[in-house]
Amino acid sequence: GRDRKIAGDLLAHYDVHARRLPWRAPPGSNAADPYRVWLSEVMLQQTTVAAVGPYFAKFTERWPTVQDLAAADDADLMAAWAGLGYYARARNLLACARAVARDHGGIFPDSEDGLRALPGVGAYTAAAVAAIAFGRRAVVVDANVERVVARLFAIATPLPAARPAIREACDRITPDARAGDFAQAMMDLGATICTARNPACGICPIRADCAAILTADPAAFPVKPPK
Ligand code: ADE
Repeated sequence: GRDRKIAGDLLAHYDVHARRLPWRAPPGSNAADPYRVWLSEVMLQQTTVAAVGPYFAKFTERWPTVQDLAAADDADLMAAWAGLGYYARARNLLACARAVARDHGGIFPDSEDGLRALPGVGAYTAAAVAAIAFGRRAVVVDANVERVVARLFAIATPLPAARPAIREACDRITPDARAGDFAQAMMDLGATICTARNPACGICPIRADCAAILTADPAAFPVKPPK
């Protein structure tokens, strides 16, 4: 049906156009390193892909494995983090690395529930790591994905009340196979084509399935809360 076609069309586009980001395995492969995926997802919370790049390179050179990071000096880690902001993230990062090293022998749990039990790992990060690093089917909704889904289904309810419907719709279109590629394809679509302002609907791989494109103003979704 329509829901499966969306994932198929999006993944075919992703196979050709995926951004070659340093924490990604090549599309279709299952080889993404959970440590690198987790580190990138924590860094990407509230920080852009462009700003994260140099920090991700610096961290993975200095601390190539989760055990290396777990052994880091607190002050060294905070100094390396300087400029990324939201310093509670850095403290949680270290607490999580130490929990993985100490309680899990340096191996990240491979399920959403197992990941969620780690310090500082919230629902979004657990879903993203389960899908991207372990190929688990998980519903991964960040701000970019939220916008794409709200437009695909022309969800008229304003945020934040629309969130449960957006999540449900995202669940319906998430495939059983390649859930990690699907999540990252949705993120890429939101970052490069289905942008907040002036979306490039003419080159969108899923425009044939988009309800917003049939409205006067596709960019009006998701609907902002009334002031
Ligand atoms: N933002 C958060 N996680 C991301 C990812 N894996 N790829 C691209 N953008 C992201």
